[in-house]
Amino acid sequence: HAMRSPPPLFDLPRFSSARHAYSSTARAASVEGTEASRGVEEVVFHPADEYFQQVPHHYDHVEDYLVHYEKSIKDPEAFWSEIARNFHWETPWEETLSYNFNRSAGPIHVRFFHGGETNIAYNALDRHVAAGLGDRIAFYTERNDLEPIRESGPGGLKDQYTYREALEEVSRIANVLKSMGVKRGDTVGLFLPMVAELPLAMLACARIGAVHTVVFAGFSKEALADRLCDAGCKAVIACDGVFRGSKLIPLFHTVDAAIQLCNERGHIIQHTLVLERLGGDVAGVHLTPGRDVWWHEATAKASSACPVEWVPSEHPLFILYTSGSTGKPKGVLHTTGGYMIQAATTFRHVFNVRPEKNDIFLCTADCGWITGHSYVTYGPLLNGASQVVFEGVPSYPDVGRLWHMVDKYGITHLYTAPTAIRSLMREGDEHVTKYARSSLKVLGSVGEPINPEAWKWYHEVVGGGRCPIVDTWWQTETGAIAIAPLPIKGWGQKPGSASLPFLGIEPVLLSQDGKELEGPTEGLLAIKSPWPSTLRSIYGDHERMEQTYFSFDGYYLTGDNARRDSDGYYWITGRADDVVIVSGHNLGTAEVEAALAQHPNVAEAAVVGIPHDVKGNCLYCYVTLKAGQAPSPDLEKQLKVSVRSQLGAFAAPDFIQWAPNLPKTRSGKVMRRILRKVAAGGKAINVEDLGDTSTLADPEVIKELIANHV
Ligand code: WT7
Repeated sequence: HAMRSPPPLFDLPRFSSARHAYSSTARAASVEGTEASRGVEEVVFHPADEYFQQVPHHYDHVEDYLVHYEKSIKDPEAFWSEIARNFHWETPWEETLSYNFNRSAGPIHVRFFHGGETNIAYNALDRHVAAGLGDRIAFYTERNDLEPIRESGPGGLKDQYTYREALEEVSRIANVLKSMGVKRGDTVGLFLPMVAELPLAMLACARIGAVHTVVFAGFSKEALADRLCDAGCKAVIACDGVFRGSKLIPLFHTVDAAIQLCNERGHIIQHTLVLERLGGDVAGVHLTPGRDVWWHEATAKASSACPVEWVPSEHPLFILYTSGSTGKPKGVLHTTGGYMIQAATTFRHVFNVRPEKNDIFLCTADCGWITGHSYVTYGPLLNGASQVVFEGVPSYPDVGRLWHMVDKYGITHLYTAPTAIRSLMREGDEHVTKYARSSLKVLGSVGEPINPEAWKWYHEVVGGGRCPIVDTWWQTETGAIAIAPLPIKGWGQKPGSASLPFLGIEPVLLSQDGKELEGPTEGLLAIKSPWPSTLRSIYGDHERMEQTYFSFDGYYLTGDNARRDSDGYYWITGRADDVVIVSGHNLGTAEVEAALAQHPNVAEAAVVGIPHDVKGNCLYCYVTLKAGQAPSPDLEKQLKVSVRSQLGAFAAPDFIQWAPNLPKTRSGKVMRRILRKVAAGGKAINVEDLGDTSTLADPEVIKELIANHV
C-alpha cells in the first residue's frame, strides 16, 4: 500500500473573487472604531497591508472566507467532501454525513465519511514521504535544560526527526506494540513528557488501529489509574522521568504505582514500553521483567517498516479525559476520518503555517490536553509542517525562555495560553525585548478568554504590533478550533473576542429554556449542526454524553456563556456555571476579571459570587498583583472604582482578597469551585470540605487562600 502514490497536499478549492455581502449573524467587522460594549473599550485591530503582502493567506480577504463559510453551512456534505478528497482514502466513502442531534428522536450520533477507510498516521507521515518531503523536519525537540543534563542511554533521544525518520520510528514502535499483543481497537495508555516521542507514540497507535489515551504526565497515580482502568488500557507507554524546571519528576514510579492500583481493581496491564529520557539511575527505575521493556532496546530489534491498518472513518482514534463539573472525568471519544479533516483544516487556515517557506510552529501545550493532540500531533503533521516540541516550562531557566526559543529556531507561529501570557507579562517587558523575535508571524491564544490587557501586551510587546492574534475558542469535545479570527486581510480583531466561527461551525445563542436568540445578545453558546470532529461519545457512558451536551433538542450545548455583538463577534463570558447574578444582572465572572486586569498593577484576577442578603449575590474577587506591586487600601479602592466605571455600578466588587497565588490545575485553569467555597466559607473552612483537590498544580495554595480571607 505504501507504494501507491499519494495525492498532493490538499488545497481548498478557490472560487471567484466575487465580493459577497454576508448578512447572517456571522458578519465581518470591516469598520474601524469602537463600540460601547458594557462600557468596555472595544478596539478593532487590523494588521498592516504590508503584513499580508509578506504573509498571504489562502483567502485574500475576509469576504472571500465568508463565501466559503456560507457554503460550508449551506451544504456541509459538498464542502467537507471536497476537502476530504485531498487526503488519502484507501476506500472511498459512500455517505458524507448522517447525524442525529435530537434526543427525542433516538440516540445522538454523528457519522462522517461512512464506508470510507483511511489511516491518520499514513496521512500524517507516509503521504509526505512518498511526495518527496521525507527530509523535511517534522520535530525539533527543545529540552528542559539549555545544556543537556544527561541525554539518554544507548537508545539516545534524537534532537530532531525528519518526516522519514518519524515514519521509521513510528513503524518500529507500532511493531513493538504488535509484539506485545496490541491489536486494532485495543486501548493504549501514554504517560510521557513533552518529547517528540510522545506524538510518535500516538501515531504508532493510530498506525495499527489502536486507540490512544494520553494522560498528562503530571497527574497522580490515582488519577492515572482511574483513566487506565476506565479506558481499559492493555499496555502503557511510559518514561523513566523528566526534569520540569529544576524539579525531577520520577514518572515511572507513578506508572508503577498506578498499574498496582489497576491490578487491585482487577484490571491487569500486561505490558509497558519505557522511554529512557534521563538514563543512568537518575530516576531510580527498576523494570519488572516480563512486563516492562526499554523503548530503545525493543525498537532496536523492531523493523522500521510496518504495514498500515486501514480503518473505517468512524474507527475510534483516541479517548481523552476532561474534568466534568462533578464526579469522575469524562473520556471524550474522537474518531478517525472527521477528526483528521478538521484538525488539518483548522491548522491550515487559523495559523496559516507555510512549510515551504520554512515556517516553524510552536505550541506550548502538552499532548496530555486536546490542544496537544490537534495542534502538536495531528494538525501540523497532516499539513507537513515543521515544529518545535518543548519539554520545559516558559519560566525556566528564566522567564525569557520562549523568546530565546523563538530566536533560536526562527519560530514563526506561537500558540500558547493566556495564563502563560499573564505570568510572563507580570515579569516585565525587558525579558521579551532583549530578544529579536523578528521571525514571528502569527500569535495564538487558547484555553480561556484572553483579557484585553494581556491581549495588548501579547500584540504590542511580544509581536511588536505586527502580528495578528488568533484567539481560538474550542473544547476537548469540539476536537478542533471552532471560533477564531483568521489572519486574513479585513478580518478585524477585537481583544478579548474569539470573533467569528470557523468553516462548518454554526454557533447559536440559546435562552435558558433552549430558544434560539437573534442578533446582538447574550446566552448559552451552542452549536447547531455537526462538524467533522464532533465528539462521538463519552467512553463507556453514551447516556452521560447525551445528558451533558444534548439536553436541548437539536443543539450541542457547549457549557459556555457568550455574547454576540453587532458585528456578529462572539465573546465568551465564562462557563455557564460561572455566571453570577448580582441584583438581577447577569455578570460573567470573566468580564469582571478582565476589568480588574485592566489596572496596571494587576497580574491576574479570579472572581466568584457569594450569597448576599440584598443583591442575591455579590462579587468576591481574588487579585494577584504584578511583581514588585504591594497591596494597599488605596489600590483596593482604585480597583473597585475602576470595575464600576468599566462595567457599571452593579458590577462593583464587594470584596477584594490579595492572592499571591491562585488554585490552578496543571493545565492552568483556575479551580473556581475551590475559590467559591473559600469565599463563602471563610477562615473557618476545612481543607477536607473543599472536595477533590488532587488535580491542583500546587495544593499548598489553598491554605494561603483560607488564611487571607477577608
Ligand atoms: C473550555 C474548554 C480548547 C483547548 C483547551 C481547553 C474555555 C478555551 C477559549 C478561548 C474563551 C476559552 C471555554 C471552553 N476556552 N479556549 N479562546 N476563549 N474561552 O480545552 O479543557 O476542553 O476547555 O475552555 O470555557 O469551554 P478544555
